[in-house]
Amino acid sequence: MEFIDKAIQQYAEAHTKKESNVLNQLNRYTHTSVLKPRMLSGHLQGRFISMMSCLMKPKYVLDIGTYTGYSALCLAEGLTIDGIVHTIDINEEVMSTAEKFFSESPFHNQIKPHVGDALSIIEQINKTIEHWDIIWMDAEKSEYPAYYEAVIEKLRPGGLIMADNVLWSGKVVNASELAKDQDTAILDAFNKQLLEDSRVENLLLPVRDGIMMARKL
Ligand SMILES: C[S@@+](CC[C@H](N)C(=O)[O-])C[C@H]1O[C@@H](n2cnc3c(N)ncnc32)[C@H](O)[C@@H]1O
Repeated sequence: MEFIDKAIQQYAEAHTKKESNVLNQLNRYTHTSVLKPRMLSGHLQGRFISMMSCLMKPKYVLDIGTYTGYSALCLAEGLTIDGIVHTIDINEEVMSTAEKFFSESPFHNQIKPHVGDALSIIEQINKTIEHWDIIWMDAEKSEYPAYYEAVIEKLRPGGLIMADNVLWSGKVVNASELAKDQDTAILDAFNKQLLEDSRVENLLLPVRDGIMMARKL
C-alpha cells in the first residue's frame, strides 16, 4: 500500500539507516509467503519505532498485534539489558513465524510472545509488571479505545503510546466513509478522545497510515 508519493517514500528509505539482516529477511519472507503483507510495519516505520525505543530505553514494552514480528523486533532494539517486549497476537500461525525470526535475533531472550485475544492477555500481563514504558498498538482497530483504557493506568508518567493506522488510508477525513464504515468512525472518535484526554499530550504524525502518539503526563 502506498501512503505517500512513491518517489518521496523511496528517497526517505534511501536516506534512512537500513534494517538489520533479520528484519530484512523477515520483511522479504512476509512479502513472499504470508497473507496480507501490507500489515507489516516495514523499513521506514520500523526505523521510527526503533528510534523511539532507543531514545526511551524502555524496560516494559507492549506490542499489540505481533503479525510476523516486525514491530516487536524494532521495539526490542531500545530495551534495557533487563527489558522485555510482550507481544500479543490472536493468530497462532503468524506467531509461529514471528517466533522463528525472534529466535534468530539478538533479542530472543527479551521478547515474550502471547497467543490469544489482546484484551484478555493485557489484563493478565498488567498484573505481572510494574508499569508500561512503551505501547505499540496495531491489532483490531475497533478495539483501540478498549486497548487504550486497558493500558493507560499502567503507563508510567513520560511513557508513550503509539497507535498505528489512525488515518485509515485517509478515510477519517472522508464524510461518507465516516458515516458508513464503523472502523473509520471508531478511529476518528479515538483520535478525538486522545486529543481531549487530560492524562496525555498527543501528536498525530501523518507517517505512513498515521501514528497517534500519546505521552502520559
Ligand atoms: C497490522 S498487523 C500487526 C503488524 C505488526 N505490528 C507489524 O508492525 O508488522 C495486526 C495483527 O493483529 C492481530 N489481531 C487482530 N485482532 C486481534 C486481537 N483481538 N487480539 C490479538 N491480536 C489481534 C492480527 O492477527 C494481525 O496479525
